[in-house]
Amino acid sequence: MSNTKGHMVYLNGEYLDLQKAKISVLDRGFLFGDSVYEVIPVYNHRPFAAKQHLDRLTKSLTAIHMDSPLDHDSWIEIFDRVLASSALTDKMLYIQVTRGAYPSRGHAIPDDVTPTVLVAALPTTRRYVLEGVNVITVKDQRWANCRIKATTLLPNVLAKDAAQRVSTHDAIFVKDGFALEGTASNLFMVKDNTVFTSPLSANILPGITRSIVIDILKTHHIAIEEKMITLDELKKADEIWLTGSVQEIVPVVLLDHCAVADGIVGPMWKRITRLYADRVEQETT
Ligand SMILES: Cc1ncc(COP(=O)(O)O)c(C=O)c1O
Repeated sequence: MSNTKGHMVYLNGEYLDLQKAKISVLDRGFLFGDSVYEVIPVYNHRPFAAKQHLDRLTKSLTAIHMDSPLDHDSWIEIFDRVLASSALTDKMLYIQVTRGAYPSRGHAIPDDVTPTVLVAALPTTRRYVLEGVNVITVKDQRWANCRIKATTLLPNVLAKDAAQRVSTHDAIFVKDGFALEGTASNLFMVKDNTVFTSPLSANILPGITRSIVIDILKTHHIAIEEKMITLDELKKADEIWLTGSVQEIVPVVLLDHCAVADGIVGPMWKRITRLYADRVEQETT
């Protein structure tokens, strides 16, 4: 890997060279996917919206009956140190907390297990998608607790792979006729100058970018409604966007190989993208 000289990760209280950081084969995150994670975008070597990400991490941990292993200030101190050691220009902070390693393999949650805690700065390829992307829809085959940011992402991996096998950028999960979210993004649709997004539920991840976009829309008095979006409505949208911490706000111009409206990025996307960039700049410079 390039650019990793002096690149330290935090693992269980230690700062280690990325190549030397190792976990046990008995780690429950490895064996069962008994773990949760966060991805925090980094601009100007500073984490963006760190508090929201840490709050969501605590919620994910609570949902799997774990306490946060560190307090807010300790996390921030670790982020600063890990970021300071990284020479990468485009990077994100990756945080994973697993239940930890235990000598015997069994599903039951042991009382006396110490969590595995990893914080690493990893490279991103933030692509500023100005021309829009091509996405397909796929049947949602995920579990019933998608609000937890769990590392068990096999359905997401396979949906992304299905998209790439037909030379498209990504896939949108559809369940019972409703379009829910992307494989690593939330879904927005514009129709007649109103912006719509799927409401928070156990079927989607409460995206931090989603909440920031909603806040920006409200601040600028742009109509925003959180409501279930049918696949039929999505097909008739004026604009479709996918939002995520690293990818930001991605315009979709082809859905299931058909043009979204006239097949070019829309004016609302152009506006909200500028406002989002302003928000990032305000908070990271
Ligand atoms: C399934 C899913 N939905 C939505 C998102 C977007 O969340 P955020 O904006 O917090 O990155 C992600 C991010 O990885 C995701 O995996």
